[in-house]
Amino acid sequence: MTYNDIRKAFLQYFESHGHTIVPSASLIPNDPTLLFTVAGMVPWKGILQGTEPAFAPRVADVQKCIRAGGKHNDLEDVGFDGRHHTFFEMLGNWSFGDYFKEGAIEMSWELLTKVFGLDPERIVVTTHHSDEEATAIWKKITGKDAIRLGDKDNWWSAGDTGPCGPCTEMHYDMGADLPGGLPGSSNEDGGRFVEIWNDVFMQFDRDANGNLTPLPKQNVDTGAGLERFASILQGKTDNYDTDLFVNLKRAVSDITGVAETSENIASFKVITDHLRSVGFAIADGVIPSNTDRGYVIRRILRRAMRHGQILGHKGALLSKLYPALITEMGAAYPELAANQARVVEIIQNEENAFADMLQNGMKLLESELPKLNNNVLPGDVAFKLFDTYGFPLDLTQMILRDRNIDVDVSGFEKSMAEQKERSRANTKGTRIFWESQTDLAATDDSAKYAPVSMESRVLSILRNGEFIENASAGDEVEVALDKTTFYGTQGGQVGDSGELQTADGGAVMVVTEAGRVDNVVIHKGVLKSDLHVGDVVLPVINSAVRQQTARAHTATHLLQAALRHVLNEDVEQRGSKVSPDSVRFDFSFGRAMTAEEKQAVEDLVNQWIASDMPVEHAEMTMDEAVKKGAMALFGEKYGDTVKVITAGDVSCELCGGTHIYHTGEILKAKINKEKSISSGIRRITMSVGTLAE
Ligand code: ALA
Repeated sequence: MTYNDIRKAFLQYFESHGHTIVPSASLIPNDPTLLFTVAGMVPWKGILQGTEPAFAPRVADVQKCIRAGGKHNDLEDVGFDGRHHTFFEMLGNWSFGDYFKEGAIEMSWELLTKVFGLDPERIVVTTHHSDEEATAIWKKITGKDAIRLGDKDNWWSAGDTGPCGPCTEMHYDMGADLPGGLPGSSNEDGGRFVEIWNDVFMQFDRDANGNLTPLPKQNVDTGAGLERFASILQGKTDNYDTDLFVNLKRAVSDITGVAETSENIASFKVITDHLRSVGFAIADGVIPSNTDRGYVIRRILRRAMRHGQILGHKGALLSKLYPALITEMGAAYPELAANQARVVEIIQNEENAFADMLQNGMKLLESELPKLNNNVLPGDVAFKLFDTYGFPLDLTQMILRDRNIDVDVSGFEKSMAEQKERSRANTKGTRIFWESQTDLAATDDSAKYAPVSMESRVLSILRNGEFIENASAGDEVEVALDKTTFYGTQGGQVGDSGELQTADGGAVMVVTEAGRVDNVVIHKGVLKSDLHVGDVVLPVINSAVRQQTARAHTATHLLQAALRHVLNEDVEQRGSKVSPDSVRFDFSFGRAMTAEEKQAVEDLVNQWIASDMPVEHAEMTMDEAVKKGAMALFGEKYGDTVKVITAGDVSCELCGGTHIYHTGEILKAKINKEKSISSGIRRITMSVGTLAE
């Protein structure tokens, strides 16, 4: 019987026994306690608890499940045996207050032995040690003495709270030649006895304190993994040797050009398993991200890519395999084909974003391995892989597991906590302190566009969250002055760096970045000598870096003009980050740009740079700016007088940033990447100046 035929036979059996057949529910559960649908009963939780009415007394279905996080997690085991999956299909039948233990056991037994023809002698059953009733039913129907086990084996619940109850499990003896003992024995995991079906007698509701309350009705919830059924019925000891997986593995071979061997079999298992969880989850609406179920899917996808890399394959993999998944499973799950274009695009974007990071991260990892002490990778290295190269911790662990190298997980967590602390201190953390100072004077930063030598007075010094009068050399501080030449981060342009100096040019403070809280410019950095409130200092910006930022900012305006020229006039800026010689520009556009369009935009920007157009900086009223046709930023507030930056006859924008005076100063522009960041919004990263050259 093929995998797809087993699914049909199961449903037919229960339909002929009075069950209403329903399609699988989504993998995204309507249940905040779960990341994914982990079992067939998840959509029926309310019915089992008695908070929702049952739509039928008997129901059966085949439910898509993912167990890759939370209480039910099989992710780490995939690839290492023939039984584990992150995605699987659960065959299930339910009684909502209709039949109970006897009916459930009778039907399970009949289906296994009569319909599927399994040898009754090879089936072993277990019951909960407290469940006399189920034990007696097994004896009566089959003559078998159930093995009686405790909560770990024979008590089932989906989460820590909710409906639960004792269960009875059926195990199949795969043959005396295999290692492994009976269920409940110390070597039960050996592989000889395989759990094939679990009938749960949902009798209780567990609350957050662990108290059990009897449910209004006695229900039955059963679950059997289709993958295991298929392996047993097809005489295989490995689920990945059943027809469905054989076909998917062949697709992996076709795409990677690598044949399956006993050495690389783990990679074939991981890739085919992960193809199913990633493909089905995204078809159901999960978007890879950095949180919750989106992060689980991102991690799974990255693990699959790593296994592609082990097979010698570079770049996109799952997106190329997705059509094979439709071929195998699309008839039973029409959502796969219905969402094909969207799913493939999302997977491709993820794969493209991670491809280079994977190569570079592996280089870093390989270079660290010879330095290890006691086969333990230091936590800060694992953190760097995570933070810089996007390696989830479990990916690093998976890579090192083969080489018997551990990761210092507590060191990793410490680095993570330190990083959080740093970013808290760098952004919101100190902002809170500045905002709490109600008597702060606005900084006069009118000289920022044409920095001149000026004397400024120190108004406030912030150190470690405290405003102080006197600070010492070496202190890390933030300083507000009465006036400054520094541009404080604003409008997407990063702030200036430079120094606060004494009148004779000595460095008082190295300013790494000028930030801004409302209309106060905050000079952040480290003191070279003591500093006191009231001191007079000279703010001196790093003009080379300022020039790099200014040319990047003017280039951003040219980029926007070129996009509107090449794509269409509807393209609008949605965000930007202008740094020294680099630009990140987000804009509204409904699809990926073609290679030709990207080239045309880059060429146009470079043509405007080469023609060395004058860049005019003007101040005018808002009315005048509107008349001049200046583009304003969507959703931005402007004052009565505005600054307008005009580059030749190609660009005219309201802008408070710093700019160059001739487009030729940009030297060169180079588009590095164009990608989607959310629906309808694209992001371009571009280098300019010496970086582009
Ligand atoms: N809900 C039960 C299980 O998942 C049937 O094993």
